[in-house]
Amino acid sequence: MSDFVPPYPPRPARTYPSLGLIRRARRNFLEIWSEKAFRAQFMQTKVLARKVFICNSPDTVQHVFSTHNAAFERKSPQMRHALQPLLGDGLFISDGETWRRRRKLVGPVIHVSKLPEFAPVMVDTILETRARWAAGAEGQEIDALSEMAELTAEIICRTIFGRQLGGAHAREVVEGFSDYQRLVGQTDALSLLGLPDWLPRFHKPGLRKAKDRIHAVLDGIIADYRRRGATKDVSVIGHLLDAIDEETGEPLGDEALRNEAAVIFMAGHETTANTLAWAWFLLSQATDVEARLHAELDEVLGGRVPTLADVPRLRYTRAIIEETLRLYPPVPILAREALEDESIRGRPVPKGSLVMAVPWLIHRHKLLWERPDHFEPERFLPGAAGAPSKFAYIPFAIGPRICAGLSFGLTESILSLATLAQDVSLRLKPGHVVEPVCRLTLRPGESLPMLVHRRAARAPVAPRAAAASGCPHLG
Ligand code: HEM
Repeated sequence: MSDFVPPYPPRPARTYPSLGLIRRARRNFLEIWSEKAFRAQFMQTKVLARKVFICNSPDTVQHVFSTHNAAFERKSPQMRHALQPLLGDGLFISDGETWRRRRKLVGPVIHVSKLPEFAPVMVDTILETRARWAAGAEGQEIDALSEMAELTAEIICRTIFGRQLGGAHAREVVEGFSDYQRLVGQTDALSLLGLPDWLPRFHKPGLRKAKDRIHAVLDGIIADYRRRGATKDVSVIGHLLDAIDEETGEPLGDEALRNEAAVIFMAGHETTANTLAWAWFLLSQATDVEARLHAELDEVLGGRVPTLADVPRLRYTRAIIEETLRLYPPVPILAREALEDESIRGRPVPKGSLVMAVPWLIHRHKLLWERPDHFEPERFLPGAAGAPSKFAYIPFAIGPRICAGLSFGLTESILSLATLAQDVSLRLKPGHVVEPVCRLTLRPGESLPMLVHRRAARAPVAPRAAAASGCPHLG
């Protein structure tokens, strides 16, 4: 069992007052939580005019995200304002009838039952990264974060768009998404200040350009498919073109189709990339875990390339991914708006309040988890105590709005780690400090410089990261 305590930002002694809170939250949302928050069950605060409730116990999470989901199904105004220019009425930020109909259409095309089609495409793409690393010099430096982003973007491109996209278009979309995320920022302070929804928000210059770049490529692909009537490709766009809206009996229109393609790309690419980048970092620091991973890969695969059929037997690999998602949930905040006056645990929650679950908090809750800040994949092995409740482990959210690509993302992560770790060990570049930062997603800073060692060459055991950390082991 690993003794490694991975880095987390220092925890302030007390919660900041409103303005200090907004300033901190804009810098790094992870920095606002005091030690007390990791023991709390249900918190209430007021950020200027807006009441904010934080569900930090299985029963309150279940209430908001599952049993009373209809009353809280609308995404927070911050999320909607940030993503609307890009996603329009896309599934990720829609609610009510539009959400229900889109979920019925989009859910099945990225469903677990499609994995036999997608998995070979995933593995072929991962093998290209493996070959590229193998062609480089022993000990070469890579940015593991951007490597994983390119890999997962390429996987999404090939599964969504088949082969139609091509290198230049793929890069255009990837860069467009990455610019968009950078420019949009995590916190829309105007919304936190409680200004009404109808007031126009001003986005940073460049945001529109980034959105237009993405839309132009997606529109071109859809037009191409329509022209050629090609719907048999292994691609989500092909499945979506075939899909019929049950209620209207009509297929999706072009704009709706583009919005859903943008949703799948955005929701599915950086989340998985961050998971893999964090996993590489954690393995580089906990070499006992890495050794157990290698033993499993050798035993189950014996040097073979993994297939979908191997995934159920790669139990420790899966446990590493699950533990990574616990410690560094790519979506560290799930924020909703109360649609009516409600109550939670008997406490009134007025209409318009912001109601959140924070995976970053509940995944490290002192009263729910054993050694919550430790990296211990064993807790997710079959037969172990595992998560204290399915409502306390929510990296993919929970309830009707649970991630539609859960199986896709989990399988992609397991196959990527298994295929690459068969061949290489990554070591953190000496002297690099890892700082967990929350943008739209939780990332290990802006880059993650690591050195690639072939397994046969026996990777040196790097000294543990001296991290910007509030955890006891790292000072
Ligand atoms: C490790 C990888 C992933 C993680 C941790 C993750 C996490 C999440 C979370 C937390 C949500 C809900 C957000 C909220 O309620 O505010 C979500 C929604 C969604 N995800 Fe994922 N996701 C991952 C991979 C993927 C992939 C690969 C795809 C597509 C291929 C995908 C497609 C979606 C879609 C379409 C939604 C919107 C669902 C709805 O609102 O009904 N995700 N994801």
